[in-house]
Amino acid sequence: MTNNLFVARQAIYSRPEKVIIFTGAGVSAESGIRPFRNSDESLWDEFDVETFSSIDGFLEQPLAVWRWYLQQVSSAKHALPNAAHLAIASVQYPVITQNVDLLHEAAGSKNVLHMHGQGDRAKCTECLWEGELTELDITVVDVPPGCPECGSLARPDIVWFGEPLSEHNMLQAYLLLKDSICVVIGTSGRVEPVAHLPGLANLVISINSCEDDHVVNSLQLTGTASDILPRLFAE
Ligand code: OAD
Ligand code: ZN
Repeated sequence: MTNNLFVARQAIYSRPEKVIIFTGAGVSAESGIRPFRNSDESLWDEFDVETFSSIDGFLEQPLAVWRWYLQQVSSAKHALPNAAHLAIASVQYPVITQNVDLLHEAAGSKNVLHMHGQGDRAKCTECLWEGELTELDITVVDVPPGCPECGSLARPDIVWFGEPLSEHNMLQAYLLLKDSICVVIGTSGRVEPVAHLPGLANLVISINSCEDDHVVNSLQLTGTASDILPRLFAE
């Protein structure tokens, strides 16, 4: 690890303009946000992924899904960025994230690309409306919120399983990652198409607390994000 950390620091130091940060749920675990897999607290071990992360599950039980989702949004709102988010913000490398919790922004990162949507946004299941979650009436607890434009069912503006990612975001991610030095942090790499994106980089530095979840063919740093990132980016 010490040697890999040294090599990773050298690589970053020699080409800082090439560095792109790529994060998953593990970067927020130490802020108290539950990851999806591979922990005692894994969300998908406790909640049915088909129900809570698919359009079919949502259309069957919109109220249950909204209630569950708003609890996740509320925990994220009360969470604070941890030392990993802060270390990333201190260097202002562009961030590509799968997380919807907005903790990179809370830490001060300015350039953040959200591949799986954002927890503060919603959209309509029928018309083209999309906007802030706060524009919906979520105070009524026995009816799922309606679209402010057409009154149809509104939904979280996040990507559920089986749904396509924004083409614009995929292109942006491609342009950022091509030939980059990509620092991949806290993702199990189980969800496509995003899991393949770090493969575009020239060099992948993989940070994960679980050795089995590192990106293959990468420079591997095993440990927690909050321990490693401040050391990786220290002056
Ligand atoms: P996962 O929950 O699948 O994986 C979290 C990863 O973080 C695992 O590899 C852990 O070993 C690692 N980890 C946990 N704590 C850590 C720590 N303190 N420091 C470093 N690493 C740590 O999360 P994602 O890969 O982000 O999709 O999941 C991908 C997608 O699956 C999510 O965006 C979400 C989910 O279903 C959608 O909502 C569409
Ligand atoms: Zn609408």
